[in-house]
Parts: sequence; C-alpha cells; structure tokens
Amino acid sequence: MNFISRKPWDPSLHKLTDEGIYHNRGQHRREFLASLGIGAAGILGSSVLPGCGEHKPNTEKLKAAAEIPITKASKEIYPSDRNPKFTYGRDETVQQDAAIYTNFYEFSMSKQTYEHVDRFTPTPWEIKIGGLCAKPTTFDLDELYKKFAFEERAYRHRCVETWAMCVPWTGFQLHQLLKLVEPEAQAKYVQFETFNRPTEAPNMSDSSFPWPYTEGLTIEEAMNELTFVATGIYGEPLPKQHGAPVRLVLPWKYGFKSIKSIVQITLTAQPPKTFWNVVNPREYGFEANVDPKVPHPRWSQSEEWMLGTRERFPTVKFNGYGDYVAKLYG
Ligand code: MTE
Repeated sequence: MNFISRKPWDPSLHKLTDEGIYHNRGQHRREFLASLGIGAAGILGSSVLPGCGEHKPNTEKLKAAAEIPITKASKEIYPSDRNPKFTYGRDETVQQDAAIYTNFYEFSMSKQTYEHVDRFTPTPWEIKIGGLCAKPTTFDLDELYKKFAFEERAYRHRCVETWAMCVPWTGFQLHQLLKLVEPEAQAKYVQFETFNRPTEAPNMSDSSFPWPYTEGLTIEEAMNELTFVATGIYGEPLPKQHGAPVRLVLPWKYGFKSIKSIVQITLTAQPPKTFWNVVNPREYGFEANVDPKVPHPRWSQSEEWMLGTRERFPTVKFNGYGDYVAKLYG
C-alpha cells in the first residue's frame, strides 16, 4: 500500500491524515509516524483502501516466507486437534488473504510484510522467561513443543485499524508456561519483548521507534484461559510475517497487543512499557480491549471488515469473548 510509504512532506498526505495531527508541529515525530503506521491504515482501511483483493501476491515470496525448518518435535505438533470450545461464528479467513495483509512494523510499514522478511531467521530460537519468579527458564522451540499441551484454536482477531480475520492458531495457554516458572507474589504484570535485529528486519533501522517492540498484560490477563502462545497458524508453523516462531494471541484485545516473534517474557511488579503506548499514548492504551463504544481518537470502532471478503460486522465488546474476560475488568 503506497500511502504508507509517502513521506510527511508529500502534499497528498494532507487528504489522508487527520489535519490536526499533521499540523501539530509540537508533536513528536514518532507520534506522527505512528499515526502513519497503525493510524493511517485505520482511517483508510475502513473506507478508502482497496483491500487485499487488489494486491497481486508475489507467490514466490509468500512461499519463501513460510519455509520454516521442521524438526522432529515440531512434526508431531502440526496439525494439532482443534479445541471444539472455540468457534468463529463466521467464515474462516482464506489463508492467503491473512498472509498477504499483516502488520509487522519491524519489517515494513506496508501490509505486505511478507515481501520484506527474507533476511529474518526465526530458527534456531530461544525464549527467556524471568523477572519476579522462582524458576527463570530458557526454552528453545523443541522444548516448547515437548513441554506443553498443544491444541488448535479458532479465534476471531480484531485490529485497532478495524480490519478483522478468523484464523486457526496452533499453540498452548500461556498460563502453562507461567506456572512452570512459579511467579512470585509481587508479580503483577507480564512484559513481552520481540527480537532486536536491525540487520534482519529493515525497518528497525528507523530509530524514531522505540525498538524492540514490547507489550504487556496484567498477571490476571496473562493467566486467563484465552491467552494463547501460538507457534502455528492454519495447521502449519507460523510464516515469518505472522510472527514466527512464537507469538501471543489475545482475541479480546486489539491486535497490537498480540506481540510477534517473542524472545523474552518478564514478570514485573509495575506496569511495563509497551511499544505503542510509548509511541503515542493518546491513541494506544495499555488495556486496549475491543470496545465499539470507545472510538479511536481518529476513527470509529463501531464496525469491522473482514480480510479477503471485506464483509462488515458490528464490533462486539471484548470481540465477543466477554464470557471469558469481562470478570477481569469488574
Ligand atoms: N508484533 C510485533 N513485534 N510487531 C508488530 O508490528 N503488529 C501488531 C501485532 N503484533 C506487530 C506485532 C498488530 S498492529 C497486529 S493487528 C497484529 O500483530 C497482526 O497480526 P497478523 O499480522 O499476524 O495478522
């Protein structure tokens, strides 16, 4: 989508962005860039963007982005049995429609991040869990595959930009992993951190952003039944653009909370810093629960549109997962 690669001095930008934001000279450049990132796509995604149907996929690059080395342990995981408890209540998004329209700002500000991931090496990979816990641990991927109970979950996903998808994730509940490290009583929050490799992820050279990408949850949110650590999608290991080799999936929150390519999980006493909250606190809060009644400062959240079909649906509070999570917000 070429609108995102426009430079701030491009006059056509005035039509696409909130005038107030553009003209506020006092605003930090990072905030302005953020409004071009998650922001511009949000405004346009619902009305002006032609949608993924108009992007002609580069099939070679798509295939290359999904070529993740298979180990003996991973072979036993895919596909995992689907947990019948979770259903979309809508049609499943076509795999390619999800694969060609992703947000992964480390690689590109465009949605076709799969075209920019060739230098990324998601295997081998280690994920460290530490902070306020009795048993800090480091896992490699095979250890994750062997240690935890994997399943497939059909989840709805809702991006803050108003696009949505229904996809099957392979993974396990985060609480299995947290229980293993034995959180201490003072651990009230969990911070997640993505890799930091500018040589592999071209957009990380843009120092206007507070890399690495970070996210956070309260300990209660992290322990919730819905909170899922995914290593796969559509019965296969995650392709690079979806967050290989391991990411979070939080179906009741806006998608930016579902951090990709995690290397570190830290239990903390204080609310951790999060990437988007640092970039633009006015627009991206810590909680970020899906809510049709709370508009984004620059657009309504009352509707969403599906990748591929562009079918529109009214937004539902907690993305329809209130039975699982409403109790957390008492
Ligand atoms: N994680 C990292 N590390 N970097 C990102 O740019 N984008 C987020 C989230 N996780 C992002 C990330 C956003 S805005 C969304 S909507 C989801 O990933 C999108 O997931 P998908 O691209 O696999 O559909």
